[in-house]
Amino acid sequence: MQKPSFLSMSASESAESTIRVGIFGGGTVGGGIVDILDRKSDYVTALTGKNIEVHKICVRDASKPRDFDLPDHASIVTNFDDILDDPEIDMVVEVMGGTTAAKDVIFSALKNGKDVVTANKALIAQDLTEIESLVGEVNKGLESGDEVEFRYEAAVCGGIPIIRSLQSDFVGDSVSMMSGIINGCTNFMLSAMDRDGKSYDEALAEASALGYAEADPTLDVGGFDARSKLKILMRLGFGVEVSEDEISCRGITELMKVDFDYAKMLGGTIKLLGVAKALDDDSVTAFVSPCYVTNDDSLASVSDATNAIEVKSENLVSSTYIGQGAGRYPTANSCVNDIVALAKGDQTFLPFNPGSQKKMVNNFESVFYLRLKYRDSLGITRQCGEICEKHGVSIHSILQNPVTKNDDSAFVIMTEKVDLKAIKNVVADIEALD
Ligand code: NAP
Ligand code: HSE
Repeated sequence: MQKPSFLSMSASESAESTIRVGIFGGGTVGGGIVDILDRKSDYVTALTGKNIEVHKICVRDASKPRDFDLPDHASIVTNFDDILDDPEIDMVVEVMGGTTAAKDVIFSALKNGKDVVTANKALIAQDLTEIESLVGEVNKGLESGDEVEFRYEAAVCGGIPIIRSLQSDFVGDSVSMMSGIINGCTNFMLSAMDRDGKSYDEALAEASALGYAEADPTLDVGGFDARSKLKILMRLGFGVEVSEDEISCRGITELMKVDFDYAKMLGGTIKLLGVAKALDDDSVTAFVSPCYVTNDDSLASVSDATNAIEVKSENLVSSTYIGQGAGRYPTANSCVNDIVALAKGDQTFLPFNPGSQKKMVNNFESVFYLRLKYRDSLGITRQCGEICEKHGVSIHSILQNPVTKNDDSAFVIMTEKVDLKAIKNVVADIEALD
């Protein structure tokens, strides 16, 4: 087979065979995309038969120095319409983040007949259904090849091709659980705190400097970024549309050194996990929470910004995807794969099992770890024991604080497997104690 060669194209062929890209965002991810497309341009042209050129990059502040080289034919703009209304631009890549302006950009681009690639999980989690119906509307009556396409591989787990896998590799399968480490920033922070003894603030500052944190890091540390990703995974893996508010969500903001001490004492560590599970044929549940994992669990050694996600399913049984979940090049790599796939004319696969009627149940069973701060006095454990008994919560063990510095005074109740609702009742009653 003869390889398509850009160099042998005539001027008119080359004009038709050029895909002009407008990028919204020239930060961590945007800069990575420009860089990779530049480095790989010959190969991409050979692969697609098209020359992919970044023509405009829209940023907030045009005077800010950039840490990437601007391609010869590219300019920096600050007005959205410079890209959206430019008939020469074929494809829009949205990597500026947020859910307001980014939504306008994506909707206008699609309506203007431009393909869209994004890394914006907050927006996809919020509006994927609306975006998909817009794509359907725009494409009504259009010939195959003229249709607009929408891709978002970088939105979940950065460089790991989990979206593509769920869209294409489970069509004859039935997914029962998706779980693992799905936020790079917090995994980096937990590694830095546990392994390197860094403080929470030091760990967050480092994660931000490395480009792992969201513009608003509350999204990472509060567990909300992981929750958005879990919602997207549930749409793809289970075919269900759940509201993010229905997913129980706890981040890492309340973790203290003493929690790591307890985890060590128990022979493990703490990881922020996202878990989505089919309970039966009719219902699913999901949560984001810091979880204790034993040292022999493979997740215990997944450190820094690495993500790991296990998909359990009927045919494949268990498949684990592991790789860089955040940062410039892993994320930009996923965006570039989407850009190249669209340039090649690949069609987007439909989400797996899109017609599911499964209901979301915001409750699940687990062993729980309750850390109780206390003022020493007689009968504390008795009172806690009574409250647990009242709510049917069986105690597995009570652990005494391994460190006894004033601020960290705490004991821990490890429960048997009980459901979240019972634990919430226990916590409410304990918090009401003097
Ligand atoms: P970033 O480094 O903060 O860059 C954001 C860029 O967007 C900046 O260049 C900024 O312009 C521009 N921008 C922001 N708001 C704008 C507005 N209203 N008008 C014009 N330009 C605007 O962010 P990032 O880390 O690249 O993340 C971008 C997106 O990728 C987000 O949706 C994020 O969730 C997603 N993502 C990031 C990662 C990661 O590891 N970083 C991984 C996966 C997905 P200025 O430079 O002038 O301020
Ligand atoms: N802030 C996100 C994370 C970026 O740390 O996982 C990648 O989605």
